[in-house]
Amino acid sequence: MADLEIRTAARHELGEASAVLSRGMRDNPAHIAVFGHQPEVRRKALRRIFSTMLPLMPHPPLVGLQDGTIVAVWGTADPGKCQPGGLQKLRLLPAVLVCGPRTASRALTWLNEWSSRDLKEPHHHLGPVGVDTHLQGKGIGSRVMAAWCKTLDDNHAVGYLETDKPENVRFYGRFGFEVIEEVAVLDTPNWFMSRPAAG
Ligand SMILES: CC(C)(COP(=O)(O)OP(=O)(O)OC[C@H]1O[C@@H](n2cnc3c(N)ncnc32)[C@H](O)[C@@H]1OP(=O)(O)O)[C@@H](O)C(=O)NCCC(=O)NCCS
Repeated sequence: MADLEIRTAARHELGEASAVLSRGMRDNPAHIAVFGHQPEVRRKALRRIFSTMLPLMPHPPLVGLQDGTIVAVWGTADPGKCQPGGLQKLRLLPAVLVCGPRTASRALTWLNEWSSRDLKEPHHHLGPVGVDTHLQGKGIGSRVMAAWCKTLDDNHAVGYLETDKPENVRFYGRFGFEVIEEVAVLDTPNWFMSRPAAG
């Protein structure tokens, strides 16, 4: 594998990071359930949403770069910072509403289902997460995940995430995440996983 640089994204890289996420996450079951069966419609909707969302997050995501190009994006939020406040929601709304009322309503249902289950104990929240489409399955995600989990361990912190693919449950399981709940959202299975703090 080409060398992988792992670091926090600079503010000016958030557009590139949004593009990677929108390609990498285009075919996730939750996104098909919300945005429908046309891949390009889903990619464009995700691009709009992530371009709005990443700059609103409390700190920029962790990124993996190969030869100076972002290939992986790990959005993370510190304890108490993972649920968007009223102002952040208002600023996100246009990016969702532009998809039409039916899609917007499905997106809000899905986000509400996730936020209502947010882990009560203080935690570091992972997501959105994606490796660029053509590079998935080559070990890049594992390297970024190991770097993030080391930060968790160094801080004796709890990790938490939601996911919508059984292969992701396997992936996160390798890093010590355990399923704490499984729920169908918009007829799509979703898994809620946490990772205990290192002793
Ligand atoms: C999930 C993801 C971040 C993992 O990163 P990666 O670089 O592909 O993963 P690695 O190559 O380091 O590890 C491979 C493992 O990841 C899991 N995996 C999940 N999605 C995969 C995919 N599309 N291709 C290959 N492996 C995938 C499998 O468990 C695989 O192990 P296996 O080969 O034994 O089944 C990446 O595949 C991805 O971006 N997927 C699409 C978007 C997504 O689901 N994001 C996470 C939302 S919570």
